[in-house]
Amino acid sequence: MSSLLLPILISSVVVARQVHISVDASSSMGVLPPVARFFGADEPNEATTPDGEVLLAELGQLSPHQTYFRTHNLLTTCDPLDDDTPRLKWGCTNAYTEDSYGNPVYNWTIIDQIFDTYLERGVKPYAQIGFTPKALATDPEPYTFLFNATNTYNIIFTGWSHVPTSWQKWGELVYQWVKHEVELRGEDEVNSGYWEVWNEPNIGYWNGTEEQYFTLYDYAVYNVRRALPTARVGGPEVAGGPGGSWLGLFLDHTINGTNNATRGEGSPLDFISFHAKGSPVYVNATDSAPGHLQMNVSASLQNVRDAFAVISSYPSQKDKPVIIGEDDPDGCAACQSDAYNYRNGLIYPSYTAVAFSRDLDLALRYNINLEGTLTWAFAFQNTSYFDGFRVLATNQIDKPIMNVFRMFGKLTGERLVANSTGQVSLHTVLANSVRGDSDVGVLAAYNQTEGKLAAMVWNYHDDALPKPDVQITLDVSGLDTHWQGCESANLTHYRIGPTHSNSYTKWLAMGSPQNPSSAQIAELKAAGMLQTLGSPRTVRVEGGKVEVAFSLPIHAISLLVLEK
Ligand SMILES: *[C@@H]1O[C@H](CO)[C@@H](O)[C@H](O)[C@H]1NC(C)=O
Ligand SMILES: *[C@@H]1O[C@H](CO)[C@@H](O)[C@H](O)[C@H]1NC(C)=O
Ligand SMILES: *[C@@H]1O[C@H](CO)[C@@H](O)[C@H](O)[C@H]1NC(C)=O
Ligand SMILES: *[C@@H]1O[C@H](CO)[C@@H](O)[C@H](O)[C@H]1NC(C)=O
Ligand SMILES: *[C@@H]1O[C@H](CO)[C@@H](O)[C@H](O)[C@H]1NC(C)=O
Ligand SMILES: *[C@@H]1O[C@H](CO)[C@@H](O)[C@H](O)[C@H]1NC(C)=O
Ligand SMILES: *[C@@H]1O[C@H](CO)[C@@H](O)[C@H](O)[C@H]1NC(C)=O
Ligand SMILES: *[C@@H]1O[C@H](CO)[C@@H](O)[C@H](O)[C@H]1NC(C)=O
Ligand SMILES: *[C@@H]1O[C@H](CO)[C@@H](O)[C@H](O)[C@H]1NC(C)=O
Ligand SMILES: *[C@@H]1O[C@H](CO)[C@@H](O)[C@H](O)[C@H]1NC(C)=O
Ligand SMILES: *[C@@H]1O[C@H](CO)[C@@H](O)[C@H](O)[C@H]1NC(C)=O
Repeated sequence: MSSLLLPILISSVVVARQVHISVDASSSMGVLPPVARFFGADEPNEATTPDGEVLLAELGQLSPHQTYFRTHNLLTTCDPLDDDTPRLKWGCTNAYTEDSYGNPVYNWTIIDQIFDTYLERGVKPYAQIGFTPKALATDPEPYTFLFNATNTYNIIFTGWSHVPTSWQKWGELVYQWVKHEVELRGEDEVNSGYWEVWNEPNIGYWNGTEEQYFTLYDYAVYNVRRALPTARVGGPEVAGGPGGSWLGLFLDHTINGTNNATRGEGSPLDFISFHAKGSPVYVNATDSAPGHLQMNVSASLQNVRDAFAVISSYPSQKDKPVIIGEDDPDGCAACQSDAYNYRNGLIYPSYTAVAFSRDLDLALRYNINLEGTLTWAFAFQNTSYFDGFRVLATNQIDKPIMNVFRMFGKLTGERLVANSTGQVSLHTVLANSVRGDSDVGVLAAYNQTEGKLAAMVWNYHDDALPKPDVQITLDVSGLDTHWQGCESANLTHYRIGPTHSNSYTKWLAMGSPQNPSSAQIAELKAAGMLQTLGSPRTVRVEGGKVEVAFSLPIHAISLLVLEK
């Protein structure tokens, strides 16, 4: 067909897609677990940079529920390279060294600074016990590395990933660390955090066998509990959902394996953790579509489903809290590529809404006690504006992704039954990701204490391609259950979209400045906050019902909050 005909066809034939959403305020599915409040990064020392401190303060304010932070390298030894570029995928604390006689020397100064920075800003540690200090590594050289966007990922697996030379010294290090935390902060504070052992021991992060990981775990957990018998401990933070047979064998070990630290049976386990990652690609141009980025949310959801299936098959473990210790659209926060260019704009927050809401659906299906879904993204000090790393903020300007966490923070209470005619089924998303019609989904909750109803609605597709807006009618019924006889309510409509809560489009419109003026910086910071679509307004409540109509651009998200 001639391209000249196209505009005529669009205006005369194409009718906007209509989606109907219904939320039933009278029908609760039980408490909505506040999952979207865990964050993390490879680089522990970013927390104490100016950008890190500002971002932590914001993370601590996301919701009425506690925020936690997980980071690698808390026990890694500093081994400076003669280079002062920011150190991606690296960090260190010098917590453990040895004197010339081989006696341990503990120094908690840097760990204290990091945890103080969290706690002063309302964030608590989800403390990762790792990695191997240089003085304890069986094969310490080389110990450090210089990661950059062009070298292969494997160069990072150096001395810190090696098995400790002495399990006794490893165990004592863990004991001294936890004892120090208890002395400094008190038992209640330390009891409110988490302790987990290592990161992704089933891939290069652990240069040992699975049996050796069990021993690492046994010594770590035995010594955490020796210092504080009520501390929460868990693992194994495996990559790739259950990581093949890893998760199952780990659960076997915790139930009735030989505990190498105590010689008893099994090992304590208070929560179960594993990782899930999507798998984006860059699709070259074809006759029908230009070259573009394409997400794959099914890769991540399959990880979650497979791990939940394993956990639910263990009668003695299946009720334990589960934390998806990394739950991201791709596998490398510190890498840049055409396939990772979703990170500045709207795809990242809408993908996260889809992934986390389906995690919750999978938890219901498998009867899993889902306690958290952790976003592996933070900030990199001294990098350029919107440079494509998987970070939440760039030079203290929040990216759109931050605002989906602000929305999740307002979505608390009982989860409500809510349907959308535009929602792609869980079955289809698991099998084929979101490649046909976009997923126009809904997640809704009513918080009794606040007397507020909140409904999040997204319009997500894997392809980073333009699509027409969707026309939505959303009706809420059953409000009489909570607001007997109420005739009007206050509606606040929050929006993450092309022109709302979007510092990136604002920055592009400024001409992508790498040295913005202070007026521009102020404007960008304001654009990085969660904004409303118009002012709050009064809506009629008739017979316990409210109806709202709005249009939703591709990859945009709305959060409607109704209060009496
Ligand atoms: C949602 O769908 C379920 C199953 O189709 C149905 O039982 C329920 O009444 C619907 N709820 C609303 C609020 O439309
Ligand atoms: C960032 O740059 C400043 C000024 O050059 C420097 O003092 C600081 O150490 C750098 N920080 C990081 C984390 O690279
Ligand atoms: C402990 O570590 C800090 C930070 O690296 C350092 O300034 C201090 O000198 C160390 N303390 C001792 C006793 O070595
Ligand atoms: C990246 O690191 C490799 C060594 O691992 C080095 O050969 C290369 O020059 C570095 N590239 C950049 C752009 O710094
Ligand atoms: C352990 O590290 C050595 C290099 O020191 C490497 O050759 C080997 O492949 C690594 N093994 C595992 C299981 O990662
Ligand atoms: C742990 O204990 C088991 C059973 O006694 C033993 O076979 C294994 O070698 C030990 N593992 C390590 C890493 O010491
Ligand atoms: C350990 O527990 C599993 C069930 O989790 C059971 O199948 C297995 O027989 C037990 N093994 C031993 C040695 O008790
Ligand atoms: C896409 O195009 C690039 C550059 O022309 C080429 O290197 C790459 O192999 C192509 N990818 C696929 C999946 O065909
Ligand atoms: C998504 O990724 C998974 C795992 O890499 C792959 O098996 C699947 O084919 C991908 N799905 C789509 C629709 O591309
Ligand atoms: C409801 O909101 C209150 C106040 O923000 C909060 O403390 C409470 O935890 C919320 N309820 C649930 C179940 O999340
Ligand atoms: C409606 O809610 C907004 C946001 O919470 C608030 O600023 C406004 O005062 C409320 N208006 C009424 C009429 O309650």
